[in-house]
Amino acid sequence: MADNKAILKAGDAEIELPILSGVAGNDVIDIRTLGSSGYFTYDPGFMATGSCESSITFIDGAKGVLLHRGYSIEELARDADYLEVCYMLLHDKTPNSEEYKAFKDTITRHTLVHDQVNNFFRGFRRDAHPMAMLCGTVGAMSSFYHDDLDITDPEQRLRSAYRLVAKMPTLVAMCYKYNIGQPFVYPRNDLTYAENFLNMMFSVPAEDYKITPAVSKAVDRIFTLHADHEQNASTSTVRLAGSSGANPYACIAAGVASLWGPAHGGANEACLTMLQEIGSVDRIPEFIARAKDKADPFRLMGFGHRVYKNFDPRATVMRESCHEVLSELNIDDPLLNVAMELEKIALSDPYFAEKKLFPNVDFYSGIILKAIGIPTNMFTCIFALARTVGWVSHWHEMLSQPGQKIGRPRQLYTGEAKRPYNKIDK
Ligand code: SDX
Repeated sequence: MADNKAILKAGDAEIELPILSGVAGNDVIDIRTLGSSGYFTYDPGFMATGSCESSITFIDGAKGVLLHRGYSIEELARDADYLEVCYMLLHDKTPNSEEYKAFKDTITRHTLVHDQVNNFFRGFRRDAHPMAMLCGTVGAMSSFYHDDLDITDPEQRLRSAYRLVAKMPTLVAMCYKYNIGQPFVYPRNDLTYAENFLNMMFSVPAEDYKITPAVSKAVDRIFTLHADHEQNASTSTVRLAGSSGANPYACIAAGVASLWGPAHGGANEACLTMLQEIGSVDRIPEFIARAKDKADPFRLMGFGHRVYKNFDPRATVMRESCHEVLSELNIDDPLLNVAMELEKIALSDPYFAEKKLFPNVDFYSGIILKAIGIPTNMFTCIFALARTVGWVSHWHEMLSQPGQKIGRPRQLYTGEAKRPYNKIDK
């Protein structure tokens, strides 16, 4: 890190602040000593704030670059499977064949959840939103492991990280089965991670689910494309929750809750609902007009990104997968045509160009998930399943760093000045 300095002139004060440089990306002004000068910085929405130091993921929003441990998302989506990416995110190295096999075996043998978890679901209505059930059951996992978890012990942190990566597919599939009134399906150790998830989702006691390689490959790739994404809202939520020493299950439940919002992970569900509402290519101009109308709160779901101001590299890979899956399954989904036309029209419209609004990761994922039979209300659960490894990797990294402190932002106070309280006659 370079040791050049920023000079802040504030009132009569001249405050020197170190500028730190990383391996890539923006330099940062280190304001950790600023408080002693009587000033805070002010950055609602963290538009220009670095909250931590991390070596897991790098994004260059202007160039549409996404790297995990230095490897491009395009290469990982093409040449690695999701468990390889999980290992790399957690361990900061690519696994050799022995390490990969040992990791895969460990994950496989942690996929079962305690049978008492089944009872948690009985408390939900059958039509409960799957994300509500996932949030509740992941948080409840704290009650199974809370007393044997020393978060200062890296081995125990990794054990809980493995448990979470392993159990999320089981919990997500249970949410779906509970919604549709079918019995829960236990994990199978003879299947890959993606195959096992699909089997728990779609097999029934009356007949086994027939694994289609193209489908399980697409699901594995969707997991990879959603695995991690730097300091997004849900990952920042997990870090903040973890900074208080909360156990990882509670922290991941907080991440699930944050991801649910339609501005974040809930966009894939909202995007498919929007494409269904548009329905046909000829109605696209009406929705483009609404998206541009400041008086209309409507936004094109699946478009725009806080960081990507060029294109989201994941959307490009997802679009290719879309075509592969639909042609493999011999599906001619009119929604894909609507999506492709919407992308073309939006990208040629000055409004979207000047606001740098491009399709993001959520734009095409819904079409693939719909094609393989996953209902729209399950889409964000799939995102949460895939993002769990990113959440636990950041949680583990944060707790590994020396001098880690509880996150405690300050504020610009605009309430009442101190005033006397007049007791009321009760
Ligand atoms: C994810 O952070 C991550 O990394 C997230 C994620 C991850 O992997 O973790 O990448 C996953 O959350 C992807 C984003 C999914 N969300 C959506 O698709 C919802 C629709 N998009 C937006 O609501 C919006 O684009 C955000 C939330 C994604 C980004 O919001 P910003 O950066 O705060 O931008 P903004 O809301 O300030 O918008 C800037 C301008 C505004 O116009 P002005 O007020 O300047 O006139 O662009 C407009 C907005 O009105 N705008 C849109 C728009 N998104 C922004 N106009 C129409 N349609 C849209 N989708």
